[in-house]
Formats: sequence, structure tokens, C-alpha cells
Amino acid sequence: MSTLPPEFERLRAVADAARANAWAPYSQFPVGAALEAADGRIFGGCNVENASYPAGTCAERVALGTAIAAGARGFVRVVITSNQHDPTPPCGICRQALVEFAPALEVYAVTPDGRAARWSLAELLPAPFTPASLENV
Ligand code: THU
Repeated sequence: MSTLPPEFERLRAVADAARANAWAPYSQFPVGAALEAADGRIFGGCNVENASYPAGTCAERVALGTAIAAGARGFVRVVITSNQHDPTPPCGICRQALVEFAPALEVYAVTPDGRAARWSLAELLPAPFTPASLENV
């Protein structure tokens, strides 16, 4: 990828540090995420699996929950790291969780050898269900 933002390497380092703590004994698929808030703070997360498989949580939602609990709201970008050959995009549930707070989020995923992919959240989740979708309830 040609145009990576100046914050990218810092976010990648935070995501990798979180990934080192991932609890992924069932999938052997450790993931790290670093979410940059509009106020400049960066929040890391890792996936947290469970012997009851559906109780597991993705790295992106752990980062998001940590950020929300710290009072952050708007978000600019997220960097996702995994140990896979190809960059790991966020799952559908994480796309939905993120769009609540950051419809214009920039999403980056990077492999251990530094190959990066970039998407806008809008292209990953077209026609999103958002708080505005509830207005006619
Ligand atoms: N996972 C994430 O944490 N983030 C992603 O973007 C994709 C999937 C986790 C969920 C599960 O613990 C493991 O990776 C395999 O799906």
C-alpha cells in the first residue's frame, strides 16, 4: 500500500502489543486492534475466546469497548494485525459495532511482514443500520 498515514506505525505497534496478549487457544488466530480516537488517544484490543465458543469477542470490539469506557467517542482509524498471510479485515459484527461511533472510519489491516490493506468502513458496510435508522420507531 502506498499511502499510509503517519500514525500507522504507532497504531500497528499498539495492535501488536495487544495481539501478544490475545486469548485464542481454540482458533489459534490471535488478532490485535488499535483504535485511534478523534482526541488522539489510541486504544488496543485483542480477541478473547472462550470454551463456550460464541462467548468469544473480537479484537476490534475489545478495543472499542475499552475506548468507550474511557470516554472516547468519535474515531478516526483502526489498525488490525494478525499472523495471517493476507491482511485480516474486520468481521461483520465488528463493522456494525464500529459504525455506531465512526461511520467515516479508515480501516487498515497489516500482515506480520508489513503488507497493508486499506478500506473505508463505508465500503465494508454499505447501507449501514445506524442510530438514525431508529428515528422512525
Ligand atoms: N477475529 C478478530 O478478533 N478480529 C477479526 O477481524 C477477525 C476475527 C477473531 C475472532 C476469533 O477469536 C478468531 O479471530 C477466529 O475467527
